[in-house]
Amino acid sequence: MSNPFSKFIRQFNRTEMNLKFICLTGGLTILLITAVKCWYSYKCKELKFCDKLRNRAPSNYTLKVSSKLNCSLIGKLVNRDTDKHFDFFLTALAGGKFSIYINDPINLRYQVNDSLPEMPLETDMTVNVNMLDVGELVIIEFEDIKIYLSTDPFNLTVYREGQEIVKINPRQLLTFEEDPEAPVALDFNFPQALRAYGLPEHAERLALRTTTNGSEPYRLYNIDRYGYEVNSTQALYGSVPVLFGLGVNMTAGVFWLNSAQTFVDITHKKTGIDSYFISETGALEAFILTGPSLRDCVKQYINLTGVAPLPQMFALGHHQSRYSYMSQKEVLEVCNKFDENKFPLDVIWMDIDYTDKNKYFTWDPKTFPNPSSMLNALNKQGRKAVVIIDPHIKREKGYSVFDECESKEYFVKNPSGTSFKASCWPGLSSWIDFFNPEALNYYSALIADFAKSNNLHIWNDMNEPSVFEVQEQAMDGNCIHYEGWKHRDVHNQYGFYQTVGTYQGLIDRSNDEIRPFILTRSFFAGSQRYAAHWTGDNVASWEHLKYSIPMMLTEALCGLSFVGADVGGFSCNPTEELLQRWYQAGAWYPFFRAHSAVSTKRREPYLFNDKIQQRIRKSLQQRYKHLTYWYTMFWEHYLIGEPVIRPLSYEYSDDINTYDIDNEFLVGSDILVHPVTEKMAKNVTVYLPGGENELWYEIDNFNETYTGLGIKNLPVTLDTVPVFYRGGSIIPVKQTVRNTSVYMKDDPITLLVFLDKYNYAKGTVYDDDQVSFDYLSNKYTYVRFTFYNNSLRNEIIDDEASYDQATILNSVIFYGLKTTVSQVSVATKKSVPEEDLVKNMYTRNVTVNKNRATIDNLNLDIRHQFVIRFDENITFLE
Ligand code: NOJ
Repeated sequence: MSNPFSKFIRQFNRTEMNLKFICLTGGLTILLITAVKCWYSYKCKELKFCDKLRNRAPSNYTLKVSSKLNCSLIGKLVNRDTDKHFDFFLTALAGGKFSIYINDPINLRYQVNDSLPEMPLETDMTVNVNMLDVGELVIIEFEDIKIYLSTDPFNLTVYREGQEIVKINPRQLLTFEEDPEAPVALDFNFPQALRAYGLPEHAERLALRTTTNGSEPYRLYNIDRYGYEVNSTQALYGSVPVLFGLGVNMTAGVFWLNSAQTFVDITHKKTGIDSYFISETGALEAFILTGPSLRDCVKQYINLTGVAPLPQMFALGHHQSRYSYMSQKEVLEVCNKFDENKFPLDVIWMDIDYTDKNKYFTWDPKTFPNPSSMLNALNKQGRKAVVIIDPHIKREKGYSVFDECESKEYFVKNPSGTSFKASCWPGLSSWIDFFNPEALNYYSALIADFAKSNNLHIWNDMNEPSVFEVQEQAMDGNCIHYEGWKHRDVHNQYGFYQTVGTYQGLIDRSNDEIRPFILTRSFFAGSQRYAAHWTGDNVASWEHLKYSIPMMLTEALCGLSFVGADVGGFSCNPTEELLQRWYQAGAWYPFFRAHSAVSTKRREPYLFNDKIQQRIRKSLQQRYKHLTYWYTMFWEHYLIGEPVIRPLSYEYSDDINTYDIDNEFLVGSDILVHPVTEKMAKNVTVYLPGGENELWYEIDNFNETYTGLGIKNLPVTLDTVPVFYRGGSIIPVKQTVRNTSVYMKDDPITLLVFLDKYNYAKGTVYDDDQVSFDYLSNKYTYVRFTFYNNSLRNEIIDDEASYDQATILNSVIFYGLKTTVSQVSVATKKSVPEEDLVKNMYTRNVTVNKNRATIDNLNLDIRHQFVIRFDENITFLE
């Protein structure tokens, strides 16, 4: 607004053309670089609501308790200054959580729907009221949580196991006014916290900064930010308003369920952390997560908003994208080249140019004359296709999607009641109002019809929504949605609803049989139930490579485990070194896609010299070798809500040294990855956690083990990336890598057994048909492997599981085993129940090489119990 460059910047930011210019012409365009780097983003003080509330004097509210139900306390919150009364509910929720809800019964404000898949389970609480000189002290107890609610002035202190963990409204910054368009705000203090994590999406470190010493607050306002700045509190494409206050003994969190534009201030104090949430409009709804560990808080949050469904195996493979592959011929040529050059690839992506003039749900008749034959050809290669479907619809009479949406009033409206019109890729467009259930059904039906072929999946882009040629490239807050809610009330949830519709469409197209794959750019709390996410239009720079890690870690802690960043960087041309480093890192991203902007030089891996190809191929092979491990981690995320990738502090939260580490991460709990993100790196400083009893085995040299004693300086070359397996883990791998994951499905697995200091190791393997929803009717195999007492055993974790196909274990490789034994005994129990027990016993050779002992030719079906023992006295029934 007051930025003198804003008009100029708006024009130059609108399309990708400007950055093309900037990337290619370097020094000449310093002025433009500055302009783009300053992508205009409103500051708090430029937005009346934020400026006013950020500087507000303490408010004056009191609570009049009116009744107590089993699980809820109900009252009236009274603004002393205006004598206005608002409804207040505090509800105890099972599993260490409770919620606070404030709304105005007369001028009801917008309450977020559907972010939580179901009403959280409530739990009984006891309530005792004690009179004070002023007001009352209400003591609420449930599980091991005690809440001291003082009614005048209104504030709450939450205790867990006797320790103070969260204070609510301690600085009396609560704001809730009668005007339904007015902002809401509340402050929280985490007395035990040393670090604050959460609040995606920002190109920010894992540990959030203090924002009250001159910095901008974290802004949550889903917005299109081409070539965004890193190390910033500026808003990006998605928002999850959840914050964790990480402490050594106690971690607690707050989930602020509001879909309007929100600012959050953070202040690190001598003891504890203050936070202050300010939202532009909406009801006040907050969930308190009482931990006590970061792991517990994350699970409490995921328990509220849901897990990602199990993806198809292909989705965990390697994806190749470009803006755009311009014809079906080119699409097939690119895939053939990947095959010819032995780069595994599961998915090829089609960006906006596949459409007929940016009309979604159409194919360009000239360049994609026969999409079904292309999809069939891809299917034969074992490949999937993903096509982009944006939420804006070209306003063109005769285009059936436009005609229907316009006549049925499915578009977001202007306050006057006409369809909102503005510019986006197709030129003049309107936006589907996904909040309208009828429009959403119509959209789902379009998806189901368009994606008839089961190997076609969907990419929802520009769904913040991005609107060209207007301030900040965002939809006007006064636009009107279903039931008359203003866009500003619902803004951050717009993209969420598009993915709801896309998901339903993809479910319907296969009659509930095939698991959908969706990638979304915009997200909100709960989006993980529908789509994977990527970090948008990053830049081919070392800084962007670096920041991809904390961005993904934060998102994974906030429910979005299926996350990645454009490998190679979207805009600008990466140097060869950067591209190789990015593939090495990307091979360990949960979502692994190479993508590049329209103006960039082609960079498919087969275009480079042999040495570079070899390195990229090695990264891809590493990904494919570990697909069973990734799949098992996604299953466990689905089953128990564990994030697939984790910061070290998640697993080692009693080690304060891990709290700021965000240049490395864990995949599950057992693989530690430290991508090389420095140019011309010769050494990398890795932090190996866990203390002297933890062992870490280096991926490229298993003979090398390190203890978890902290910082280790390791030499690297362009061929190496520090990746370690945790001693005590058993990791499934596949030895043979093929063109796509489909062709690896029936290949046997090898178990890598990394022994800890006590000669112990354990791990799990999950398998199923990798495609359908049959896992919901128990058609899967889920097995735990344990090595102790010199024996490796398997154990069926879930007795109900009954997948009718074998997962074959052919080899086991032990690392760290001190043995001179040249043979093992193998016993198998081929069928259950016990009475039909068929016992097979045989021996296998052990090949010992340094600290590695290999057993091959096992041919064991892991669904049946077995024991591999390093001596011959072996029985099942011990
Ligand atoms: C913006 C997306 O972020 C980018 O990945 C895509 O290539 C372009 N839109 C064109 O669709």
